[in-house]
This record gives sequence, structure tokens and C-alpha cells, in this order.
Amino acid sequence: MTEKHYLKRLLPSSLLGRSLLIIVTPLVLLQVISAIIFFESHWDKVSLRLARGLAGDIAAIVELLRRDPGPKSRSEVFKVASVHMSIWATLKEGEILPNTPPVATNRLDEILIKAISEAVHKPFQIDTRTRERRVSVEIQLAEGVLRILTPRKRLFSSTTYVFVMWMVGISMILFGVATIFMRNQVKPIRRLARAADDFGMGRMERKFKPEGATEVRKAASAFIDMRERIRRHISQRTEMLAGVSHDLRTPLTRMKLQLEMAGGDVGGVAELKEDVAEMEHMLGGYLAFARGEGEEAPKLASLTGLLNEVAAQAKRKGGAVDLHVEGEIIGALRGAAFRRCLTNLIENAMRYAEHVTVRAGRRGGAVEIVIDDDGSGIPEDMREEVFKPFFRLESSRNPETGGVGLGLTIARDVVRAHGGDIKLSDSPNGGLRVILRLPL
Ligand SMILES: Nc1ncnc2c1ncn2[C@@H]1O[C@H](COP(=O)(O)OP(=O)(O)OP(=O)(O)O)[C@@H](O)[C@H]1O
Ligand SMILES: [Mg+2]
Repeated sequence: MTEKHYLKRLLPSSLLGRSLLIIVTPLVLLQVISAIIFFESHWDKVSLRLARGLAGDIAAIVELLRRDPGPKSRSEVFKVASVHMSIWATLKEGEILPNTPPVATNRLDEILIKAISEAVHKPFQIDTRTRERRVSVEIQLAEGVLRILTPRKRLFSSTTYVFVMWMVGISMILFGVATIFMRNQVKPIRRLARAADDFGMGRMERKFKPEGATEVRKAASAFIDMRERIRRHISQRTEMLAGVSHDLRTPLTRMKLQLEMAGGDVGGVAELKEDVAEMEHMLGGYLAFARGEGEEAPKLASLTGLLNEVAAQAKRKGGAVDLHVEGEIIGALRGAAFRRCLTNLIENAMRYAEHVTVRAGRRGGAVEIVIDDDGSGIPEDMREEVFKPFFRLESSRNPETGGVGLGLTIARDVVRAHGGDIKLSDSPNGGLRVILRLPL
């Protein structure tokens, strides 16, 4: 489980990173495999062939020296060797090599030792390390030690380096080309995500048109269609609600006038008046709700200022509101809508409790507004319900506490349109705690 997590964290999370990984992994694997095959077979074979060539030359020199050991022919042989074989030979007369087998420190040494042992059946030592560009071989002859010096190039196939460099170079070019292409493929997906985000947060949309691969294009045009459908749906709903509320107002006003004319002392008129007043209040709420959906563009504004204004307004209405704001909070806000949201929440607290405490501040990349009160709170199983339109916990018709049941619905709508969310919990003050979280 932990290993899986570790691997997940190690792997790139972005589409670009992942697709590059998909391209690069087989590329690197292919390279490693071909490098192994190359070193295992080709490089070994070529090196052995080169070593055998040198060993053959050495064997020829040894054989010529054996046939005619005189100093004159020796110098002739050495001359030919230096001119035609790139071998500088010297004979150290009377010297004796240590009686130990030649030591190999790398694969090249091993190959060289193998080739010389096959060609020259005499004790010998090799030294491939002392000199950078030369290899020396010492062979024990009867008259002394024959020292052979030859360029390392005779043994070393330089194509190895060239091959590896080509592989690395080509894969880097491929990687670069893949990055450029993949980035272009990922771009339209990023744009789609941004457009969806903008729509969800109710931001002004940038121009967005389907582009990129067929699938991405399809997803983009599906998104555009969906966006249009949702917009149409919202505006139909809003228009209907506004229309109904508006149309009902006229007969209601008429009723109110008729009731006024009927006089206040006739039985039941007082109750009827109360009902009409409540209906008017409700219609006001519906209209406000419908208008709240209107297109208000977000503007940079001070949340601190807005909170101060709302709190001051509540105090004027006789509420006990304590406000604590940490620093100046500025963000893209739909001023009117957000003011309505805050007013709704604080009015609720004032209506259903005595004291209200509002605190606001930045908490890890988001702005948090916490509204606490000391009222009766909302039972846990009702905390989702109360956000539903027209849902009220109490059925009182008391105009003092009687609301429409839209306050929290509107508040959540507004907060969500800003890309945030609203949650309810228990307040340490004994009542309800409302937590607003906004990515400002
Ligand atoms: N601070 C609170 N303490 C206790 N109950 C609350 C609080 N806020 C809301 N409620 C409960 O949640 C219900 C829904 O609240 P909401 O604000 O949506 O409607 P409302 O206040 O009844 O009407 P209005 O549309 O006029 O605001 C309320 O009827 C009330 O019962
Ligand atoms: Mg309310």
C-alpha cells in the first residue's frame, strides 16, 4: 500500500508528464537493451578481433626474432614493426619478468590477454593503465624481455562512443520533439478545464472554441452545448419565478387596498391583513431570489469593507454583532450578491439568536468567514435540508420570525458562484456556526 503511494507520488500527475513518460520509457528501455546487446556481442567481437590483430603482429615479431636472434636482423625487424605495424619494440637483454600471470583490470585487458595467450606461447605481462594513449606488452624471450608499445587505438574500437553518443543525442531530439507536440495536444484540454472552471465559478468567460484532437474537440463542443443548456435552464427558471411573483403582486396590492377600505374592526380582517402582508413579504423574497441570478460581473473589492458595512447595518437594526477581520481582504467579488449573502446569514443569526460573532481571515489559500450565534442551532440531520428553497424549520406565521425559506438557498448560491462553499456546524457559543470558504 505504502509502496503504491510512493510510486504514485513519484509518477507525474499532469497529462503532459504522463504522456512524455509513456514515450520516454520505451525509448530508454530500447536504448538500454540495444546498448547491452551492442556491448555484449558487437563490442566484444570487435575488440577481440582487434586484439587478435595485435597479438598476431607480436607473434610474428617473436617468431622473426627466434629465427634470427642477431642484433642486425633484430633492428631490421623492429624498424619494419614501427613503420608498418605501429609497434615500437625494444629488447631488454638479460631481464626476467616476474613469474605471475598477467592481471586484467577490465574487459579490454581480459580480451587482450586471451588473444596474446592464444598467439604467443610465452610468459607475458600487459600494462594498459600506466600510459594514457599506449598499451605495453612485455614478453619473456630466451635472451631477455621484449617490450612492445602500441597505440591504444589499435585495440579500442572508437565506434562505441560514437554509437552511444548517437543514441543519447537522437533520444534527446526525440524527447524534445515529443515535448513540443504533446504540449500542443495538452493545451486544448487545459483550456477546456479552464473554461469549465470559469463557468462553474461564474467568472466572465474568455473566448473558447473547440480545438485540438477529435476527442478533445468533441468534449469541448459537448461542454459548450451543456453550458448553453444550463444557461437556458437557469434563465427560464428565473424568468418564470420573477414572472409569477410579479404577476401575483398586482392582485395582492388590490386585495390590500380592498382590506384597507373594509375597515379594521370587522371580524377576520386583521388576520387577513396579516396573511396578505406575509404573502407580500414572500413575493419580495422570490423576486429578490430571481433577481439574484442576474449577471453581475465580479469586481475587485474589499471584503473587509463589505463585512463592516453589513455589520453596521445589522447593528442599526438593533442586532448585537461582533466583527473581527484579520487584515484587509481583497478579492474578485460580486458586490451586491455577496452583500445579500452576508445579510441573509447575519439576519438569520439575529432572528434565531441573541448575539452574533463574525470572524474572517485567510486560512491556507482561501478566505474563511465564520458566523457564530448563541441560538438554538439546527439539528445535524437538518443541516442539508435548510439549504433547499422554501424549507423552514419552524412553521410559525409570526411576522417577527416568519421568513420565506430562501435566505440560506440564496447564500449558498452566491458562495458557490464565487467558487466557494458554505457549511453548517455547532457553534461553541451554543447556537449555529456557519462557515464560508472562498478561494479569493
Ligand atoms: N442561525 C440560525 N439558528 C437557528 N436556526 C436557523 C438559523 N439560520 C437558519 N435557521 C433555520 O433554517 C431555516 C432556513 O433558513 P433561511 O434563511 O433559508 O430561511 P428563513 O430565514 O426562514 O427565511 P428568509 O428567506 O426570510 O431568510 C430557517 O427557517 C430556520 O429554521
Ligand atoms: Mg433567513
